[in-house]
Amino acid sequence: MWKEHSMKIHTPPASPNTSCRTHLGDFVAEFIRKPGTTASLLPSSSHLARVMVRDAGLADAEAVLEYGPGTGVFTPYILRELRPESKFAAIEINPRFASIFKTVHPAVTLFEDSVENVAAICASLQVAGVDCVISGLPWAFFPKSVQISILDQTMRVLKPGGRFITFGYPHSLVLPAAKHLAALLPNYFTTVSKSPIVWLNVPPAFVYRCVR
Ligand SMILES: C[S@@+](CC[C@H](N)C(=O)[O-])C[C@H]1O[C@@H](n2cnc3c(N)ncnc32)[C@H](O)[C@@H]1O
Repeated sequence: MWKEHSMKIHTPPASPNTSCRTHLGDFVAEFIRKPGTTASLLPSSSHLARVMVRDAGLADAEAVLEYGPGTGVFTPYILRELRPESKFAAIEINPRFASIFKTVHPAVTLFEDSVENVAAICASLQVAGVDCVISGLPWAFFPKSVQISILDQTMRVLKPGGRFITFGYPHSLVLPAAKHLAALLPNYFTTVSKSPIVWLNVPPAFVYRCVR
């Protein structure tokens, strides 16, 4: 079942990213083992995490999902925004990351699964609609068919007016898959905007904010 968010349980430490940084070696190891799904040598930074949650409407959300949390870098920043009664769950395909995530965020509901099964996951939870998806997925490494499948499945659960937040790397925009995603997003969402580049992330990144 969804665990109702509790600010008391989830209040992040003064430096929310610290616990994730201690898993740097795990991230590098998973990149070497599974480059196609990990896609980055390093976890995202606190700088990118702040931009990811900005204007995501989390404070008003009833139900929120995090896609591909990895070691859970974005998670404390999401939890800080949520109301105590908000529902939050994460979906991570990599068993090693899932194990780390459960250690770092024991109070968060985690599905060790592919986000392509998000509709079935929400159905199993008896959740009819999600207000916001915060995605850490590596779109530039996905085949076009997988991009379409994930967005199709996401649309089955995202409420009208719901937000879909994800990030990309400017240097990856030359890749066909990244171009494909950029062309695809306006087919699914009424509004698609891009943040300024977050130069302090390694590598620099930008955030797509999409509204259904
Ligand atoms: C670039 S890493 C980002 C991790 C973390 N969000 C961050 O920013 O540091 C991509 C993450 O997406 C996960 N992932 C890739 N494909 C997935 C899928 N189909 N379903 C769920 N998670 C997936 C990977 O295992 C990895 O944890």
